[in-house]
Amino acid sequence: MNTNDKKILVTGAGGQLGSELRCVLGDRAEYVGRDTLDLTDTKTVHDYLRAHDFRYVVNAAAYTAVDRAEEEKSECAAANVTIVENLAALADELDFRIIHISTDYVFDGHTSRPYTEVDKPEPLSVYGTTKRRGETSLLGLAPDSMIIRTGWLYSSFGSNFVKTMLRLAKSGGPLRIVADQVGTPTYAADLAAFIVDKVIDGHWNPGIYNFSNEGVASWYDFAVAVVEEAGMDVEVLPIATVDYPTAATRPAFTILDKTKVRAAYGIDIPHWRKSLRRCMKLITN
Ligand SMILES: NC(=O)c1ccc[n+]([C@@H]2O[C@H](COP(=O)([O-])OP(=O)(O)OC[C@H]3O[C@@H](n4cnc5c(N)ncnc54)[C@H](OP(=O)(O)O)[C@@H]3O)[C@@H](O)[C@H]2O)c1
Repeated sequence: MNTNDKKILVTGAGGQLGSELRCVLGDRAEYVGRDTLDLTDTKTVHDYLRAHDFRYVVNAAAYTAVDRAEEEKSECAAANVTIVENLAALADELDFRIIHISTDYVFDGHTSRPYTEVDKPEPLSVYGTTKRRGETSLLGLAPDSMIIRTGWLYSSFGSNFVKTMLRLAKSGGPLRIVADQVGTPTYAADLAAFIVDKVIDGHWNPGIYNFSNEGVASWYDFAVAVVEEAGMDVEVLPIATVDYPTAATRPAFTILDKTKVRAAYGIDIPHWRKSLRRCMKLITN
């Protein structure tokens, strides 16, 4: 192995994106999960970073339980803010670049045109608020970082909407799914491929970028597609957000405008439906 290659750190290694990154990067990276390193402890993180010679840190660690976050505010902030600050504090001194993942939930969804990177974040939930605080801290401490905002992530790894729909469909249905929240389902494998092929092995363009799959869907559309791709004969019924109360308020509209990432990296991003098919082949085979 080229020694230059051994200079990538992936945090949140056991999560959806962390697992997809491992598939692409293999032994080019070091992986840390909650069990291997307490990323919320400043000294622990700094000792670890000083003992290595990383060129890139991909921060895929996050508290992502959107509803539970409304109760577990400090746990959520520890993961979504403190971890980012612990990593960012040494980026300049140790000369590593941070690729940090953020969310479409930094927006309030009170619009009907896709969000660009310069639109004003107005998070509605504890999760969204802490993710926004993480972004702000990162840009303050390590302005040469890259922030990738994505949404509605799923993967063959971990738990997610696709697996939940499959489980519910197997128990017979009908499924009642919210149809008045729209966004874009994003296959974490596509995001991992972008990070590695275009950013780490491509070129460095710091700043905030939107990245999701192409297309638009409601959670209802997404559920219908999962059931169709699985070849199951289960009824899916559209319901309104008000008929499915949750602890956290979610934005009704989080389509991300990807003009910037397409232009900066010259990429064609797959449509969400095509990527869903690829992922579901892995899940159902
Ligand atoms: N999932 C989505 O729909 C979605 C949408 C938009 C943006 N994003 C963002 O995309 C990124 C990747 O998300 P994902 O779906 O891959 O998340 P995920 O599957 O929930 O994985 C997150 C990982 O972070 C770890 N983690 C949580 N708290 C930690 C802590 N205090 N210390 C160390 N590790 C901790 C988790 O470990 P445990 O498993 O042990 O908790 C898990 O391995 C995150 O930044 C997320 O905010 C996700």
